[in-house]
Amino acid sequence: MCGIVGYVGDRSAQGVVIDGLRRLEYRGYDSAGIALIADRRLAVDKRAGKLANLEKAISDTPLPAATTGIGHTRWATHGGPTDDNAHPHVGRTARVAVVHNGIIENFAELRASLESEGHEFASQTDTEVAAHLLEREVVGGADLTVAMQKVCSILEGAFTFVAIDAEDPSRVVAARRNSPLVVGLGEGESFLGSDVAAFIEHTREALELDQDQVVTISREGATVTNFDGTPAEGRRFHVDWDLAAAEKDGHDWFMRKEILEQPRAVADSLLGRRTASGSLHLDEMRLADDELREVTKIIIIAAGTSFYAGMVAKYAIEHWCRISVEVELASEFRYRDPILDNSTLVVAISQSGETADTLQAIRHARSQRSKVLAICNTNGSTIPRESDAVIYTHAGPEIGVASTKGYVTQLVACYLLALYLAQVKGTMYGDEIDGVMTQLEAMPAAVEQVLETAPEVYELAKEYADRRAFLFLGRHAGYPVALEGALKLKELAYLHAEGFAAGELKHGPIALVDEGLPIWCIVPPRGRDFLHDKMRSGIMEVRARGARTIALVEEGDDSVDAVSDTIIRLPKVPVLLQPLVAVVPLQLFACQLATELGYDVDQPRNLAKSVTVE
Ligand code: F6R
Repeated sequence: MCGIVGYVGDRSAQGVVIDGLRRLEYRGYDSAGIALIADRRLAVDKRAGKLANLEKAISDTPLPAATTGIGHTRWATHGGPTDDNAHPHVGRTARVAVVHNGIIENFAELRASLESEGHEFASQTDTEVAAHLLEREVVGGADLTVAMQKVCSILEGAFTFVAIDAEDPSRVVAARRNSPLVVGLGEGESFLGSDVAAFIEHTREALELDQDQVVTISREGATVTNFDGTPAEGRRFHVDWDLAAAEKDGHDWFMRKEILEQPRAVADSLLGRRTASGSLHLDEMRLADDELREVTKIIIIAAGTSFYAGMVAKYAIEHWCRISVEVELASEFRYRDPILDNSTLVVAISQSGETADTLQAIRHARSQRSKVLAICNTNGSTIPRESDAVIYTHAGPEIGVASTKGYVTQLVACYLLALYLAQVKGTMYGDEIDGVMTQLEAMPAAVEQVLETAPEVYELAKEYADRRAFLFLGRHAGYPVALEGALKLKELAYLHAEGFAAGELKHGPIALVDEGLPIWCIVPPRGRDFLHDKMRSGIMEVRARGARTIALVEEGDDSVDAVSDTIIRLPKVPVLLQPLVAVVPLQLFACQLATELGYDVDQPRNLAKSVTVE
């Protein structure tokens, strides 16, 4: 959370920084701010609220022309979302300005010690401490790079800083520990950003840093050191994302565009997984097949929507590989003292690759000798870098805060992992694996088909726009889909929505059902009749109590028509793959209902895309 930008070159730094912040605003939108160096003085403006407030302020009172600058868009942690707490923060003599993403855990002691030296603070943030410390070093004669190395060495916690010194407009200095930062390398100009979206408009050449490194950018390029000052090198990479992919393409919301992109995202995530000999291969397997054969237990850790993808994975892995799987919320994992050893494979699912809860969980797992495999959409992010193996999803940039194409591509990666383990462990024959791969390869078309239900789903959203509560029921792999449908509605439309395993209804939740309560029911495909028929009974039970039932049912199945108020048809797919199609109408519904209610679908209140605090 929090988006940070830095620039040095020949263009207007204000233009580059504001454009970069616009692309990073999904990371947090409690406040925004900018600092420029003009005539060896800092020019700073910062405003509570969305970036638009800052843009208005600088259009009313323009900042001086400058070619070096930094910017920030905030998701508040320490200190409420006010102008004073907005970044950048400056030191005592307003010579150094700094923006920060993360939390400085020892800021209270540092602040007390600075106050005892006479420093006064203008905000309640942890960041301001870093501004004072950096400036004290610089005023004492250190250059900003050395000051950054020294200050970072005494800080505890997670941070990315980007700082400027008014006396030296030729460079911008940044540092990272446990928070994201990438460098963009242009011709005669350099950039810093929380992710590449901040600068892909200007350059596609990028550099990623390791933990505990400082980078100094100038017109000539970037120099990297460790916190102890020893020279280091970043890893260069080329960004192949399309700029158009990071823009709305004429849709009202990024989220709507991203839902519609799902057939492509699923297809891209399946590409190149079969070798010429027909066997499966994954991206970065620093785990030998022999090590995987030794695995006796899998623990999947993830948060939010990624956790629900993990729940689906459990059904697939246990069924295809006969290995027992636990699925655990990342934020709970290490606190329960989990039983881990080198025959446990931990699978971390994270779209952003930066979720602090998940990152800390994998660090704990590795400290207990377990191997970690990451499923991630963000190349070069921290979680895959700290894992033993990675399956990258190819959803492209997901800008809408609520995950959609990120989720379906996670499902694809989970299926691939399950099939790979089945191949390695020999729990499925080659032609069975081939058969499932063929079914998976048909899924982009199936997702395309289910997207055609959008007009019906939008009508439903209009019809139900005045309801304050919704239920979602599913069984088997449909149960996590019910949970995901409810989460989408909570986060986008701020409504009370709950997902339940349909069999659990009678153990309590059925008491919630009264006249007119809308209930989405995910009906398993026919072939699994024991599941299907039980789901049908569940629908009858809630209907008998006055609920309005909206059934997601595969084509050709008319067995629940008589007990459903609305039927949305899903393509015929195998039960384990049904989440890939069943989730789509639920995403469309949440997106449309929030639109009907006048909410900001891409930036729901209180949320951020990448949650880099625990
Ligand atoms: C909900 C949503 C979140 C994320 C969660 C984990 O739509 O997007 O629940 O799934 O914050 O994020 P990642 O996958 O980046 O670790």
